[in-house]
Amino acid sequence: MKKRWPRAVLWAGPIFFLLASLSFRVPQLLDGRMGPTESYALDSTRLEVKTVATNLNGVWDMVWGPDNWIWFTEQDGKVRRLNPETGQILDLLQIPDYYRKRLGLMSMVLHPDWKTSPQVFINYTHMQPDSVIVSKLVRYTYNGKNLIKPVLLYQIPGYLGHNGSRLVVSKDRKLLWATGDLKQKETILDPKFPNGKVLRLNLDGTIPADNPFPGSPVWAMGFRVPQGLVFASNGNLFIAEHGDATDDEVNRVVKGASYGWPHIAGFSDLPDEERYAADHPTVFPVKAWTPTIAPAGMDYYDGNIPEWKNALLLSTLKDQSLRVLRLDAKKEKIVDEQIHFSKQFGRLRDVCVSPSGAVFIGTSNRDWNPIANFPIPADDRIIRISRAGTIPKAARVAKAQKSADAEPAALLYASYCASCHKPDGRGVPGSFPSLVASSRLKGDKKALIKFILTGSQSASGEGMPAFGFMSDKQLAEVVSYVRVKLAGEASGVSAEEIKQVRADKK
Ligand code: HEC
Repeated sequence: MKKRWPRAVLWAGPIFFLLASLSFRVPQLLDGRMGPTESYALDSTRLEVKTVATNLNGVWDMVWGPDNWIWFTEQDGKVRRLNPETGQILDLLQIPDYYRKRLGLMSMVLHPDWKTSPQVFINYTHMQPDSVIVSKLVRYTYNGKNLIKPVLLYQIPGYLGHNGSRLVVSKDRKLLWATGDLKQKETILDPKFPNGKVLRLNLDGTIPADNPFPGSPVWAMGFRVPQGLVFASNGNLFIAEHGDATDDEVNRVVKGASYGWPHIAGFSDLPDEERYAADHPTVFPVKAWTPTIAPAGMDYYDGNIPEWKNALLLSTLKDQSLRVLRLDAKKEKIVDEQIHFSKQFGRLRDVCVSPSGAVFIGTSNRDWNPIANFPIPADDRIIRISRAGTIPKAARVAKAQKSADAEPAALLYASYCASCHKPDGRGVPGSFPSLVASSRLKGDKKALIKFILTGSQSASGEGMPAFGFMSDKQLAEVVSYVRVKLAGEASGVSAEEIKQVRADKK
């Protein structure tokens, strides 16, 4: 008979190993970088939610590195890498010449042939000695510790805001770069200009011979402020962009196509838009949102969370949520949408998926556009969301149906106005005026209604969008709300008064 080892002896090895690895990890878990683990339920999947990095400053881009760390950018010019298991962060680079009044350092992508070309492509805004703002695409090389040897690959005009941006590399080794419109409306649909476009470059910064407009980096055009760009697993390219007062969009990007901005927002559903679309071939979104949500970074998901399989994961700023946009089998259309973590972590600028199916979201609560209740002392953060198990059938909760109630005034204000004028109506000094202290709001009703219907372009360059697309009833509610609740006037305005001003304008 074979001699059998006592059980205790058999287990001693593995247990010792486990304890040793725990004692190695505990100090790192206790140093405050990693938060507590919370649970979150999907239909049948239990998720685990955990903060893995704190005290960051405007996380813009996160990519999964070849070292299984998360490489990320912060708006104040830092590129760093995060060990998602321990929370350890190592600095890779401080960009010296970034300019951050609003944006600063934005997107980053790693070279796909890392073994032979350990290079990183980075986009940031820079102010020249002559005060002109530019947007630079720079390549750095990784020496095993830091990013060194910057090479300027391409430079385009920049602006305080509206620069985009997001970078991805295609399977055929081209760099795709989503750029903002810089508020230069005349040039957005002109392939001679790089604003409001998806640009396509070779990895050395030269222009590919098979681009649709010879000699131009332009691949597709007609975008406003794109901050999400991602390939689905079959190579379909999706972009997410901010609309103005209406129509945030996700579009499927195809070579040479025009996506309509500034003539068309969202679908062609206004008379002027229909007229424009009649003789200008335009591709319409696969999804549009009014009220707006401010979509930002996007990643493709096909991991171990079954409810999220074959989906675009979209982080949103204004709406402070993670949106799960499931795709059809051909990955051309969005078949449904889930909304998660609303208002829980603040503004979300990017999302990144690990090879094992964990999802990481990065907050942007220390950027120029603050929101109520944020930043919290731990901001900005990177938070991990991962599968923790299956919920037993008996314990699954039927999701409550969302009520399609009439829109109360406060909700209209939150959806259409608060992103700029802020929930308390006090605005952002220098950008968005306080409504509490507004004399225009207290003054002549007709002038006020006219202003809200048509919007304006102010001296600071920030515009007040036109709200003529809202119904008379909605406008009466929201204008009364700001006039009475915020500015303290005795009387609101009626739907009849709105109708009258509309009629006078014609
Ligand atoms: C995208 C940002 C943005 C949004 C959204 C927005 N506004 Fe404004 N608003 C502005 C800016 C910028 C100004 C200053 C424009 C100017 O002075 O010409 C302004 C000015 C105003 C004023 C005049 C203030 C003053 O005293 O001059 C009122 C009233 C106003 N907005 C109401 C609203 C209402 C109501 C909504 C929602 C239905 C709204 N705004 C949504 C940006 C915005």
